[in-house]
Amino acid sequence: MNFLSQLTGSFAQPCAENPTVAMVEAAYQHHGLDWRYINCEVAPEDLGDAVRGARAMNWAGFNCSIPHKVAVIEHLDGLGESARIIGAVNCAVRRDGKLIGENTDGKGFVESLREQVDPAGKSVVMFGAGGAARAIGVETALAGATHITVVNRSPERGEELAALLSEKTPATAEFVHWDGDYAVPTGTDIVVNATSIGLFPDVDARVPIDMETLTPQMVVADVIPNPPRTRLVRESEACGCTVIDGLGMLVNQGVIGIKYWTDQDVDPAVMRAKLEEIFGG
Ligand SMILES: NC(=O)c1ccc[n+]([C@@H]2O[C@H](COP(=O)([O-])OP(=O)(O)OC[C@H]3O[C@@H](n4cnc5c(N)ncnc54)[C@H](OP(=O)(O)O)[C@@H]3O)[C@@H](O)[C@H]2O)c1
Repeated sequence: MNFLSQLTGSFAQPCAENPTVAMVEAAYQHHGLDWRYINCEVAPEDLGDAVRGARAMNWAGFNCSIPHKVAVIEHLDGLGESARIIGAVNCAVRRDGKLIGENTDGKGFVESLREQVDPAGKSVVMFGAGGAARAIGVETALAGATHITVVNRSPERGEELAALLSEKTPATAEFVHWDGDYAVPTGTDIVVNATSIGLFPDVDARVPIDMETLTPQMVVADVIPNPPRTRLVRESEACGCTVIDGLGMLVNQGVIGIKYWTDQDVDPAVMRAKLEEIFGG
């Protein structure tokens, strides 16, 4: 008999609306894993105590969400390669008694991308330069994308991300200031919305793209998980593009996190079904 469950969870503020717990617990249950994932409301000033608590209770690891992704680094023992380049951690993993910070956001995105297209050798246009865009840009570049155009409203963040990608990854990158409808250049293979445009409740918001420049050869990926069928996804599909919704990234970052913690490969379909139940497919 063993009444000791393995513990994982998430530290965030606010955390009540984060659906990751439902998705991860669905996988644990489906695979008969005696593991738990607990959503914890952690204020910024309590983050150090929360991490010490997780260490003391022998947690296998935890996810970090807003506002802890950068602040958590000083409480960890080391960083994985992409987390170091991105400068943010969304998943801490206990390895040989040490807590190592990883970033599974971009890895999850690349995994969902690979279901449609291998980013190796591809040219990418990415809208946004925030936390999600940094993770996606770095991982897509490390996965072999040759060129990334960062299109962003505020020049500072966009220029910084393009410089980071050029300097720290094998890809070339450039910044384009987003002003009006962006015409996607001929030869672009992958278009990514990594902004928060379209997130519930602002579901009718339009990503300013000249939709006439999209061609059926392009893959259009949206990071917005709620609703999954965003206006961009629907309109790109109508242009004949292959589309990827934000649930793919969310599910796959969860699959990768569970693999890090439990060393088990879990079924993404079970996790996606749980999210579709919550958000509507
Ligand atoms: N599917 C998943 O697993 C997953 C994982 C992580 C995040 N996400 C989603 O990714 C989105 C972005 O998250 P984040 O952490 O990167 O946020 P963030 O750091 O706040 O960055 C937001 C980005 O969106 C841009 N933006 C916001 N409103 C805009 C508008 N009206 N016009 C033009 N640009 C606009 C911002 O541009 P400025 O720099 O000009 O402000 C910035 O580049 C969120 O909606 C989140 O739900 C999804």
